[in-house]
Amino acid sequence: MRAVDIILKKRGNSLNTSGAELSKEELEFLVGGYVRGEIPDYQIAAWLMSVYFNGMSFAETGNLTEIMLHSGETIDLSSLKNPNPFVDKHSTGGVGDKISLPLAPIVAACGVSVPMMSGRALGHTGGTLDKLESIDGYKVGLSQTEFCNIIKQCGYAMTGQTKQIVPADRLLYALRDVTGTVESIPLITASILSKKVAEGSDCLVLDVKYGNGAFMKTPELAEDLAVCMVNTLKSMGKKSAALLTCMDTPLGRKIGNFLEIEETVECLQGADVPDVMELTYSLGAHMCVFGNKARTLEEGREKCIKAVNNGSALDLFYKNVELQGGNVSKLEKEIGKRRSPHKRELVAEKDGYIYIEAYKTGVAGCSLGVGRNRTDEDVCPDAGMILRKISGDKVCKGDVIMEVYGKDEKCFDFAMPILNSAVTYSDTPDSRLHNPLVLKTITG
Ligand code: URA
Repeated sequence: MRAVDIILKKRGNSLNTSGAELSKEELEFLVGGYVRGEIPDYQIAAWLMSVYFNGMSFAETGNLTEIMLHSGETIDLSSLKNPNPFVDKHSTGGVGDKISLPLAPIVAACGVSVPMMSGRALGHTGGTLDKLESIDGYKVGLSQTEFCNIIKQCGYAMTGQTKQIVPADRLLYALRDVTGTVESIPLITASILSKKVAEGSDCLVLDVKYGNGAFMKTPELAEDLAVCMVNTLKSMGKKSAALLTCMDTPLGRKIGNFLEIEETVECLQGADVPDVMELTYSLGAHMCVFGNKARTLEEGREKCIKAVNNGSALDLFYKNVELQGGNVSKLEKEIGKRRSPHKRELVAEKDGYIYIEAYKTGVAGCSLGVGRNRTDEDVCPDAGMILRKISGDKVCKGDVIMEVYGKDEKCFDFAMPILNSAVTYSDTPDSRLHNPLVLKTITG
């Protein structure tokens, strides 16, 4: 077999413009060869682009998921002897989407065991691992033994793909991030599900985002992705539910790596951040039902609310930080204070009701240092934005809309004009404010 022939087959030609279905052997040749270092980035990038344009059949998507899953070790949670299913959640990615961070300790406080394997910043969206690593000392590359021990002690653990676990996704994810090949239903499905099945979860709650700040721009495309993921999981013997949720405007008031850790702590302390908590409770309710800790979604939601109100979720969050090597006392002191020295303010250009568009905010965030422009780039833990005004607020010319923190002085040249264009002004509140946060749920 030759990689170039497989690329040509997927790319198609004037006779077969949509390319052909690849066999499991051909996919294994490409992906396995890439992981072993036998096939170069540029050929995989070309194949990814042909998948982006031509898609994959359901069988191809399932095969790719299996190949990625078995590209390394899988986690065996049986030593934990958990009588109930292990449950995890995954988001397809958004701006200000920090939901995994409060959600895991909340549902763990309800008694659900959560083995969570997350990703890094991708395209214009943030990454849970980059956020966690902004906590001094926090370790995300856990060994199997560490992962299991931490779940045993605090009900949840957060890790990322390592050289051992789903190495194929670690490599493909980074390459897709910088080659414009993120927004593909089969590639997203295989990326998310290979990680999720490898980590040992029995059930999965998926937050499938739609809107300008999501990879799937319309509810219809998001539904296609949700159905693809739910059906692929079913074929692998896993239960799942996918919530279609709106990502037109950033979630919460803080966007950035440390800033989202900060907002998580504030939410767990009971701060009123309505969109973040509504989504957290909606997803948490499903996780409690899957984990046999609630009979109904209403009961699950009540339990999650109680875990925040009685402080048990915050205690578990700090316990997890400590168990994963993070410096809790330093973190507590940094809340509300740790900021990049490079700062600007975005002020209102005119009077009116504002709407802040998520996609442009995410792109600006990326150039500030929240995400990456090249695979070998480091993110800046202190870069990001604090929204003093959010979509639907009425502003007067000159009001500060957001505080903007960058990795250096130069990055503002690119970021500030984009942020300016992310804000629109109107005489009446924008109609997108009526889009429901949770549009519908798809179950397997
Ligand atoms: N999250 C992932 O883990 N992978 C994707 O491809 C998109 C979002």
